[in-house]
Amino acid sequence: MTQKLLSNVKTALQGTIPIPGDKSISHRAIMFGAAAHGKTVIHNFLKGNDCLDTIACFRKLGVKIEDAADEIIVYGNGWEGLKEPKEVLDVGNSGTLIRLLLGYLAGCSFHTVVIGDETISKRPMRRVVNPLREMGANIAGRNDGEFTPLSIRGGLLKGIEYELPVASAQVKSALLLAGLQAQGKTTIIEPEATRDHTEHMIRQFGGAIEVNGQKILIEGGQQLKGTTVHVPGDISSAAFFMAAAAVMPNSEIVMPHVGLNERRTGIIDVMRQMGANVEVVPDEIIASEPQGTIIVRSSSLKGIEIGGAIIPRLIDEIPIIAFLATQAEGTTVIKDAAELKVKETNRIDAVVRELKTLGAHIEATDDGMIIHGKAALKGGHVRSHHDHRIGMMLGIAALACSDPVYLKGADAVTISYPNFFDHLQKVVQPK
Ligand code: S3P
Repeated sequence: MTQKLLSNVKTALQGTIPIPGDKSISHRAIMFGAAAHGKTVIHNFLKGNDCLDTIACFRKLGVKIEDAADEIIVYGNGWEGLKEPKEVLDVGNSGTLIRLLLGYLAGCSFHTVVIGDETISKRPMRRVVNPLREMGANIAGRNDGEFTPLSIRGGLLKGIEYELPVASAQVKSALLLAGLQAQGKTTIIEPEATRDHTEHMIRQFGGAIEVNGQKILIEGGQQLKGTTVHVPGDISSAAFFMAAAAVMPNSEIVMPHVGLNERRTGIIDVMRQMGANVEVVPDEIIASEPQGTIIVRSSSLKGIEIGGAIIPRLIDEIPIIAFLATQAEGTTVIKDAAELKVKETNRIDAVVRELKTLGAHIEATDDGMIIHGKAALKGGHVRSHHDHRIGMMLGIAALACSDPVYLKGADAVTISYPNFFDHLQKVVQPK
């Protein structure tokens, strides 16, 4: 179904938005709750399709998970409490779920088959499968384990030392989950620092982990203990409204309790560098990860160069940064971001194609894109490519368009932000 978006919004965007829970942390809270002994209570869990698929998979693995109105309760029985599932595990659209699940199942001495949707069937899995095989897991799949369906027979693992060929928090996390169950020590070396929610969670669930710069060490045979997790708002979801407020005139949007983990805040640094008015007020009570209020006001933006170590700190925000760049004076160059090609869709191609349709001056490069601003966006027929972040980026871009925008595949937003369009509608001020 095609959705007509809010275009030609000449009025201000104003209001407070309750940003939904962080997707990365919500997935991990279920997984660690399942691996731990005892009860884990999760507040502000993201009820988006990806994280609901995580609950469904762990239920099929025999874990009791209750969905109470305001919290999710996981009753863990330790690693050995998991049971061989009678059915295939379906990860839906979630790359995080499948990659972390592979690490998890590598240590479980039973057989599992894992599938996902059309998108997942095209995403590379050998980056996780290869090191897990080195640790002792038996994994088979199409193209020697590169693509789903995958079949896993887990069992006794041994710790390894592994230098990640790509900066990926998903691969790192899969190896940490396997390493926790292995015999001996696992050492992981990252080429760039990536999001470290798994490391935080291991400590929060009573485990031990040593981090020396980009070298991470974990001892095998660790048992974890259930706990309470407060999931902060997802900065990757907030990013869409941060961009909207910066671009639209006379705007101010306030987003309380958003996660401010250093490894995720690249969007704040980049927007400030572009000249945006971004205020951050940290919350006093710090849960397991820092959080605070982000306030963004209308700003005049300028183009910048983005590349190197900041890329993993904003990898999921590149589609919306590309839109921001169309509304900035001068040229923005995004490089070192070839990983975008293997996200939910090829995000370099999708962003360039759809923003071009709306009238942007943007070109793809091998590892990113070049955007010339400031462009007068018009309107037209665009599509989400079944990618939630492309869908939301186009939802925001439409605000700056002079003519109507029709979005095909708008329902993709349910992956990480089910009420995105309601929230957007609420901050648009009546003329
Ligand atoms: C994620 C890691 C990133 C990110 C994804 C979520 C995670 O992927 O793009 O949306 O929760 O670990 P990579 O690890 O593939 O970079």
